[in-house]
Amino acid sequence: MSAEAEKLRNEIIAAIDAAQDMRALEDVRVAALGKKGSVSALLKTLGGMSNEERQINGPLFNALRDKLTEAIQAKKAALDSAALNARLSEETLDMTLPIAPDAQFQGRIHPVSQAMEEINAIFADMGFDVAEGPDIESQFYNFTALNIPDAHPARQMHDTFYMQAEEDGEALLLRTHTSPVQVRTMQDGQKDKSGPPFRFIAPGRTYRCDSDQTHTPMFHQVEGLVVDATTHMGHLKHTLEAFLAAFFEVENIAIRFRPSYFPFTEPSMEIDMQCHRDGDKLVVGEGNDWMEIGGSGMVNPHVLRHAGIDTEKYQGFAFGMGIDRLAMLKYGAPDLRSFFEADLRWLKHYGFVPIDVPGLAAGLSDKSLAALSADK
Ligand code: PHE
Repeated sequence: MSAEAEKLRNEIIAAIDAAQDMRALEDVRVAALGKKGSVSALLKTLGGMSNEERQINGPLFNALRDKLTEAIQAKKAALDSAALNARLSEETLDMTLPIAPDAQFQGRIHPVSQAMEEINAIFADMGFDVAEGPDIESQFYNFTALNIPDAHPARQMHDTFYMQAEEDGEALLLRTHTSPVQVRTMQDGQKDKSGPPFRFIAPGRTYRCDSDQTHTPMFHQVEGLVVDATTHMGHLKHTLEAFLAAFFEVENIAIRFRPSYFPFTEPSMEIDMQCHRDGDKLVVGEGNDWMEIGGSGMVNPHVLRHAGIDTEKYQGFAFGMGIDRLAMLKYGAPDLRSFFEADLRWLKHYGFVPIDVPGLAAGLSDKSLAALSADK
């Protein structure tokens, strides 16, 4: 290599070594390999050389450029890991320090999460499994498998949020109810031979294009399904009564079935719960008033067949209730929209202490700890 090229190489290598940070290194790179850089200028001199000179210098200059590129990359990696190490050593946490006083009282469990935990605990105690399904659903599971055919007005009834359709397929949607989990769970159960019989609930998020004091575009439902050889409406009624009494922590709650229509149940009933309005206050489990809390019915054989169940042998009931509504009624929060505004003051007031885990033995919504922390 010419003395000139060698000198250039040594200078640049020294500059790379000396670079203290990414900015400095980038300056070195631009000064050497950039369009107007020194190495680029050297490469341009090849154009003015004789053939023999070019045959000797061409490979040398190119090798020089490659070597410098490599050296810059290596330095870059070294700077990167040095920066990471510096950050890691700065961000250490001493896990042996005692926790700050009252730290366990700072976070809060949202009333909807609390209500879901309570619902799971009650139904688990009655021998129900807890099933889940996706929030983003196909039209098949949200509608077709539930006996809601194409162009059925119920598809409009639900104010569905549709996704942009894929080129080769139909549009997915945000599930408008938890009922699609019925069919998914029954299908899975047949595959892994865990059922029938089936006995499960499916709590989760649901979505409809709707917003006012009692509706939010995202809300929560709990689905329930029992399918067995002799399951009948009496079982449904008892299950709902037992659940509601446990949830509202009262001796008894009367319910009333009102005839209704759902394509996936036959017969179909609205579920009303006994209550009493005392001015603004609502007392459940007594009085002569009724409050609607969900829908229910005997599973339509079409739905069972979509799930591959032998309808000669099996029948069942299903119900769906609004969890937010149940939480509002139990904890006395008046406006549903405030549930999802993420206002810390609201959460401090209506939230639950994390270590106070709902269970039937120790009390579902024992607020003693919350009360304790509220004093602080
Ligand atoms: N999926 C119905 C709704 O969201 C409720 C329901 C569930 C009704 C199960 C009957 C049986 O309106």
